[in-house]
Amino acid sequence: DLIPVLLSGGSGTRLWPLSREGYPKQFLALAGEHSMLQATWLRVASLVREGAPLVVTNENHRFMVAEQLRQVGCTPSAIVLEPVARNTAPAIAAAALQATREGADPLLLVLPSDHVIADEDAFRAAVQAAAPRASEGALITFGIVPTAPETGYGYIKAAPGEGVRSVERFVEKPDADTAEAYLASGAYFWNSGMFLFRASRYLHELEKHQPDMLAACREAFDKASRDSDFLRLDQAAFEACPSDSIDYAVMEKTEAAEVLPIEAGWNDVGSWAALWEVAAQDGDGNAHHGDVMAIDCRNSYAWSERRLVAMIGLDDTVVVDTDDALLVAHRDRVQEVKQIVERLKGDA
Ligand code: GDD
Ligand code: MG
Repeated sequence: DLIPVLLSGGSGTRLWPLSREGYPKQFLALAGEHSMLQATWLRVASLVREGAPLVVTNENHRFMVAEQLRQVGCTPSAIVLEPVARNTAPAIAAAALQATREGADPLLLVLPSDHVIADEDAFRAAVQAAAPRASEGALITFGIVPTAPETGYGYIKAAPGEGVRSVERFVEKPDADTAEAYLASGAYFWNSGMFLFRASRYLHELEKHQPDMLAACREAFDKASRDSDFLRLDQAAFEACPSDSIDYAVMEKTEAAEVLPIEAGWNDVGSWAALWEVAAQDGDGNAHHGDVMAIDCRNSYAWSERRLVAMIGLDDTVVVDTDDALLVAHRDRVQEVKQIVERLKGDA
């Protein structure tokens, strides 16, 4: 049995002004007609026999999650609600505890709900190819051939070979020099942030490497309140849980990690520049969404929510026009919207 675990906890500040704290990127239809959360489910629905994912999300987003999934005919077996964000390791622990109650031990396919995958068949084939090793106890990561020395990703050194192979080293978010060296070596993949493993195996690794985290998650789960599909983790217990990502808490430490490289047009759409990359571009490299006119522009991206946006003679420019904020930025510097968001928070 395979159960997708949809992680929907990010704040997506890098796509400001479109994505906001109350409305992060996974709920937006950034690339296509469905929201990224909906697309995440639709891409794996056919792999699931019993037809129900587990979703882990912040309490504040519960109605949006439930409504968006309902719209695409998805009935989650549970929507686990976090009273506070404690990052992905505890979120996945809560899903694993839910999946193993009543003695079951399914494979969990852990999926960030805010990525784009162009070749869905290749992705599904990879999940199926990795399932036997995951059933035998491996923690499977899906590796991406790196194209730049990005410091926001995990780096995986794979043992030589074909198909699923063991991980010699997992380094989460290395510094710039290290990333540069890994890229040059040709021996590393990026971690896509998607994982496949048995629920019990993950809990076992947490027990070994993060016993305090597992204890806090167990308590939050045992004291959880249930109301229809919502499972609300106990606030005091979950607040006391250490905060860490699965990458630092488990993947860097475990000896059971294995990697399957995939070529599926994966992109985590972490910035407006990434969105420009995955968008349909015209002959001049321009892409846009909404009501946009461009004359003599190149490699530019424009998003208009409501009114006409007109651009003349611009190269490498990003323009995002929403009801209450307008972003104009050089395409190479869109990561810095984070600083705008921080300043706005400071003013609030
Ligand atoms: N439910 C829940 N609760 N989900 C969360 C939480 C949380 O507290 N924190 C993050 N998430 C979700 C995010 O919404 C996202 O879908 C996913 O978990 C990954 O979190 P990010 O915050 O986006 O992680 P990252 O991008 O810094 O790094 C991860 O992804 C990279 C690839 O995109 C790591 O796995 C890296 O190793 C990897 O390269
Ligand atoms: Mg991310």
